[in-house]
Amino acid sequence: MQSSSQIQPSGFAADVLTGLSAEPKFLSSKYFYDDEGSRLFQQIMELPEYYLTRAEFEIFQTQTKEIFAAFGETNKSFDLIELGAGDGTKTAVLIDYFLQQTTDFTYTPIDISQEAIDSLTAKFKAEFPRLLMTPKTGDYFRILQTLKTATGKRKIILFLGSNVGNFNREQAVAFFRNLRGVMNDRDLLFVGFDLQKDPHVILNAYDDAQGVTAQFNLNLLARINRELSADFDLQKFSHYAVYRPTECAARSFLISLERQTVHIKTLDKSFDFKAWEPIFMEISQKYNLEMIEDLAQASGFQTAKNFFDSQNYFADSLWKVSL
Ligand code: AVJ
Repeated sequence: MQSSSQIQPSGFAADVLTGLSAEPKFLSSKYFYDDEGSRLFQQIMELPEYYLTRAEFEIFQTQTKEIFAAFGETNKSFDLIELGAGDGTKTAVLIDYFLQQTTDFTYTPIDISQEAIDSLTAKFKAEFPRLLMTPKTGDYFRILQTLKTATGKRKIILFLGSNVGNFNREQAVAFFRNLRGVMNDRDLLFVGFDLQKDPHVILNAYDDAQGVTAQFNLNLLARINRELSADFDLQKFSHYAVYRPTECAARSFLISLERQTVHIKTLDKSFDFKAWEPIFMEISQKYNLEMIEDLAQASGFQTAKNFFDSQNYFADSLWKVSL
């Protein structure tokens, strides 16, 4: 029930208010991916330091047959649903092969960025004229609900690129349980996990020499400026990344370089920053096989098969639902 005439902020605005009012301050990395953020992430994937995309691409390229075979007996007819599809470069490798094996599947890419979905759709239409596609734009947490009643065909859900790494364990389990809730007995989940490795390699991936990752983080402040009429001065914040091997987690922060006050018009509120005060931006969890197994079990799944790249940098794990 509405108790006052004050307009309550919702969604992005509400989350920015919560995060910047907290001690220590934080912002949610799920808001990185507006159109500009999605473009910057494309650049990250091309960086020499950002090994994740190449490692997963290698898995798809070298083990396409095995992946398709692992999809099982009834692998001729299914709905392929990709959460956070981005530019779909990795998925194209699978789709190309699947189309040679069967025509009875549809591809449903889901992404928060309209621009990303539009360019993926155009690219795939040109590359795979026979492919049946039902692209969707929006928050995949919400779109998940509509998947339950989708087509009645077997669903194979892709959650690639170690996107799960942006969740802590509790959030990851909640997310996978949610997914489990919209899946039928024979549906499958294919999840990408970035693995533990030399900490230097990991840290460099989140602290690239060209500063694209810094820009990617700063874009969230720019987005707050654009969408919530704020006055963040991007020059007065600097990107800082750490990797903690004890927690197997990389984290990134934006550090306020001086004492300053930022006004956010839409929230009708000012936020004070001390000199060197951090805003926690993102966690990128790294995994070992025990952690993957633990996540699967805790959320109602069983690992059917794991696929690795030649350096063991990355794993794609195929999960079936536990009955
Ligand atoms: C898209 C979540 C997998 O955590 O590695 C890349 C996002 N952040 N560089 C990751 C990201 C900084 C990325 N994921």
